[in-house]
Amino acid sequence: MNILITGGAGYIGSNMVRLLVARGYNPVVLDSLEYGHRQAIPESVPLVVGNIKDQAIVESIFAKYQIQAVIHFAGYLLVEESVHDPIKYMKNNVIYPVTLLNGMRDHKVDKIIFSSSAAVYGNPQKLPIPEDHPKNPTSPYGLSKWCFEELLRVFHHDTGVRSISLRYFNACGAALDGKNGEDHTPETHIIPAAIRTAQGKQKEFFLYGTDYPTRDGSCLRDYIHIEDLAEAHLSALDALAAGHKTDVYNVATGEGTTNREIIDAIKKETGINFPVREQGRRAGDPHSLVADATRIKKEFGWQPKYSDIQTIVASAWKWHKLHPNGYGH
Ligand SMILES: NC(=O)c1ccc[n+]([C@@H]2O[C@H](COP(=O)([O-])OP(=O)(O)OC[C@H]3O[C@@H](n4cnc5c(N)ncnc54)[C@H](O)[C@@H]3O)[C@@H](O)[C@H]2O)c1
Repeated sequence: MNILITGGAGYIGSNMVRLLVARGYNPVVLDSLEYGHRQAIPESVPLVVGNIKDQAIVESIFAKYQIQAVIHFAGYLLVEESVHDPIKYMKNNVIYPVTLLNGMRDHKVDKIIFSSSAAVYGNPQKLPIPEDHPKNPTSPYGLSKWCFEELLRVFHHDTGVRSISLRYFNACGAALDGKNGEDHTPETHIIPAAIRTAQGKQKEFFLYGTDYPTRDGSCLRDYIHIEDLAEAHLSALDALAAGHKTDVYNVATGEGTTNREIIDAIKKETGINFPVREQGRRAGDPHSLVADATRIKKEFGWQPKYSDIQTIVASAWKWHKLHPNGYGH
C-alpha cells in the first residue's frame, strides 16, 4: 500500500515511516523540514520537501505515487506559542491541510489517520479520560486539533473519506535500536529536557508545580512509547482498510507517572544526579492527564509493549548518547 506521510521527517512521523517500511508498505513523505530532519528517514523513502498548503505539490504526490491512504502528522505543537499566535496554529493545523483533503477527494483516497491530542479535552472533569469526555481545549493548539477532527467528521459525511483521529497523550521514548529519537527545537518535553540537563547541556531542570493533589505533588501524565504509538497507527490503518467508519481513539496506557517519578527514573538510568529546581505551578497545566485507553485496546486488540517508564527512559537515553547533537543540526 502506498501511503502519504505528512510530517514524516518529524519525531513521531519518522518512526512511523520506519515501521511501515519494515512491514512492507510504501511510504512517501511530505515535510516542509521546518522542524523535521531529512536524516530521520531512510534514503529509500521518497521525501518531498514542501508545505501541505501547496496544492500543486500535494496534487503531484497523489498523481505520481498513486497514494492509497494518508497518515497526517504535519502540524505545529508548541502549546505556549499557540497562546501567543493562535492564527498561526489555526492556519497550519486546520486550514492548510484542507488542501490535503481536497487531494484525497479528487484522487479517491478514502483513508486518513490524523495525529490528534489529549489537548482537545482541556482540564479533565473525570479521570481516566474517555473519548466522549467534554472537549474544552485550554489552548489554541488543542482547539486546532479539535477543529480538524470535526472537519474530518463533516468531510466524511460530504465525501466518504473515512478517518481515524488518534488522541495521543505524552508521546515519548526513542526507537529501541537508537536510530530515531526526539530532536525538537525548542525542546519542551520533560524526558529530553531532563536528559539534556543530565548531559550538562542545560544547567538545571525546572520542575513546575510541586503542590498538586497527586501522590507526590507533581503533575501526573500518561506516557506512550513512540514504537507503541506507531503500532496503534497500523491497527487504525487495518481497521480503515476493513471498512471502519470515521472514529476517534485515545492512544495511551491508562497509567499515570508523575514528573518526580520521571526525573528519578532518568537519574537512575543515566547514573547522573542532575540539579532540579522546583518552581511554582505553570498556568494552564492540569494536574493529571490519564487516558481511558479501553476502546483502542478492546476494539483493535492493540496493547502497549514498551510504554513502561524504564523502557521509555532507557530508549531515550540510548538515543541521546548515540546522537549528542540530535540529527546534526
Ligand atoms: N509529541 C507529542 O507528544 C504529541 C502529542 C500529541 C499530538 N502530537 C501531534 O503529533 C504530530 C507529530 O508530532 P511530533 O512530535 O512528531 O512533531 P514534529 O515537529 O517533530 O513533527 C511535525 C512535522 O511536521 C512538519 N510540518 C509542520 N507543518 C507543516 C506543513 N504545513 N507542511 C509540511 N510539513 C509540516 C514539521 O517540519 C515536522 O517535521 C503533530 O501533529 C502533533 O501535534 C504530538
